Amino acid sequence: MATLAPSILGADFSRLGDEIQSADAAGVRFFHLDIMDGHFVPNISYGPGIVKTIDKLTDGFLDAHLMLSEPEKYFDAFKKAGADAITFHLEVHPDPLPYAQQIRQLGLQPGLSLNPDMPIEKALPFLAHFDLLLIMSVFPGFGGQSFIEDTIGRIRTAREHIDRESLTTKISVDGGVDRTNAERVVEAGADILVMGTAFFTSDDRPGLVKHVNSLSHQKSRKV
Ligand code: DX5
Ligand code: ZN
Repeated sequence: MATLAPSILGADFSRLGDEIQSADAAGVRFFHLDIMDGHFVPNISYGPGIVKTIDKLTDGFLDAHLMLSEPEKYFDAFKKAGADAITFHLEVHPDPLPYAQQIRQLGLQPGLSLNPDMPIEKALPFLAHFDLLLIMSVFPGFGGQSFIEDTIGRIRTAREHIDRESLTTKISVDGGVDRTNAERVVEAGADILVMGTAFFTSDDRPGLVKHVNSLSHQKSRKV
């Protein structure tokens, strides 16, 4: 069963409470929170204060996707704000293991993310230490971009490695994911589909969650 993780960046912030309540009512249990510093990415979003607000609005799992040049400075703040997982980029920490350990010591799940131009092979040796692998299917910074098709092969490579090594790392895919490509993304090996625009513009949020939940890479893979 695949999981749909709405990216709050796609929500109407003037109605944040309603948006989260509607996601909860649609069956969402996992939220993706895009944190941008205007330095690692050319945009600024929100910080621990809004995460704390979101945490008050839902019991769902909160993954903070830190698009920050110095993510470790804020691990503690996001823990205090209610994050359950903290995901940072391999681009900023090519040796990510000490940071995974810091996140784990806070009692949170570590996630490792890669931009579309970072070879997926660079992440594989570290996956045993991460609960989440967040494969970017757009260059991060903005919602509403188109899915980069090369991502499918990158997901497959990561899936094969995770299965071969019997790891429990979940593959999450972020950027331009929607109803038209969800099946292919899961078939390639994804566990979690991040959807900003596609989820918050959908006129059938429960139907979209059900559709994603009905997909599985295990079922569709030929043995
Ligand atoms: C991109 C962010 C994504 C993005 C997803 O910088 O990391 O999470 O907001 O939004 P959509 O689904 O609209 O591409
Ligand atoms: Zn994201």
